[in-house]
Amino acid sequence: MIYARIAGTGSFLPEKVVTNKDLEKLIDTTDEWIQERTGIKRRHIVADDETTSSIGLEAAKRAMSDAGVGPKDIDLIVVGTATPDKIFPSTACIIQRQLGVKNSPAFDVHAACSGFVYGLDLANRYIQTGGAKTVLVIGAETLSRITNWDDRSTAVLFGDGAGCVVLQSSDEPGILATHIHADGQYEELLHVPNGISVGFDQTRAGRSYIEMNGNAVFRRAVAAFDNIARETIADLDGDLGDIDWFVPHQANMRIIKAAAKKLGMPMERVIATVDEHANTSGASIPLALDLAVRDGRIKRGDTLMFAAFGAGFTWGSAMVKY
Ligand SMILES: CC(C)(COP(=O)(O)OP(=O)(O)OC[C@H]1O[C@@H](n2cnc3c(N)ncnc32)[C@H](O)[C@@H]1OP(=O)(O)O)[C@@H](O)C(=O)NCCC(=O)NCCS
Repeated sequence: MIYARIAGTGSFLPEKVVTNKDLEKLIDTTDEWIQERTGIKRRHIVADDETTSSIGLEAAKRAMSDAGVGPKDIDLIVVGTATPDKIFPSTACIIQRQLGVKNSPAFDVHAACSGFVYGLDLANRYIQTGGAKTVLVIGAETLSRITNWDDRSTAVLFGDGAGCVVLQSSDEPGILATHIHADGQYEELLHVPNGISVGFDQTRAGRSYIEMNGNAVFRRAVAAFDNIARETIADLDGDLGDIDWFVPHQANMRIIKAAAKKLGMPMERVIATVDEHANTSGASIPLALDLAVRDGRIKRGDTLMFAAFGAGFTWGSAMVKY
């Protein structure tokens, strides 16, 4: 049996930090309101010359160094992103060139905040079926470019960042289980209304930003985490004690707490880094994972549970022996 194992992790946060206090000067909000409703304290924002590919590249380099692999070893690059550099080529192709990787397939997966878990599911299947041996699964986002900084209901929630795991084939497990889902019927609860085939503005006069019905999204997110909890409990034959660390999508502290409660996970075993970087969509799980690996909480041999939720709606989970 071939397994896919996480051989290394890496992440990158842009240098520029915008605190809640900074936002108080731009919009009608307060640090207290933001912290109480979301748990967020600050977010990192890309500089004008930084892009989704440039921050994804940094995360990838760090993960490759952690795994001890070089460009010649990489035989697939998957980038989970909702904020690609360009319409085409894919951000994965741009990163491939900058890494000096030759001939590997490289493509983006667009599943909004679930992009990393979707990418992990896919990469796991490639490795298990012998289609690849060493895969970069990257989550990278520049949400600041589609955030309306005048809209207090969304501006406080999002940030930029990137995370990456190197997945390698192994005789030892690895990725133990993955589940991914989508339900397209709630498109307008969380979306960017203009894209390419809809509302594309060749004059560049019109901008398009994230639009969200916060209350309804909150309810759908909690329902999705309920679904994830049921699948996980079934996978584990009811023994949640096997999970050392729950690493959820870092959208909002209240959603993280609700998700942990559904799973029966005490908060001491939940990795929550959303206070430091806000919601970085597809980047948030590999970012939280890497931060917790670096600070020594997550150790080799630990069993991890990733759980994601995002626009689409999409959701999914992965259980991993780290
Ligand atoms: C967005 C969210 C934090 C709002 O919290 P909430 O408790 O639902 O707040 P409401 O939207 O009901 O708004 C309550 C009040 O705060 C106000 N408010 C909204 N944003 C505010 C802000 N940034 N600062 C201060 N007040 C704000 C509202 O205008 C409203 O005022 P009113 O009562 O006078 O009408 C919450 O709905 C949420 O977390 N949703 C999920 C968002 C998410 O994670 N999306 C990504 C999923 S991947």
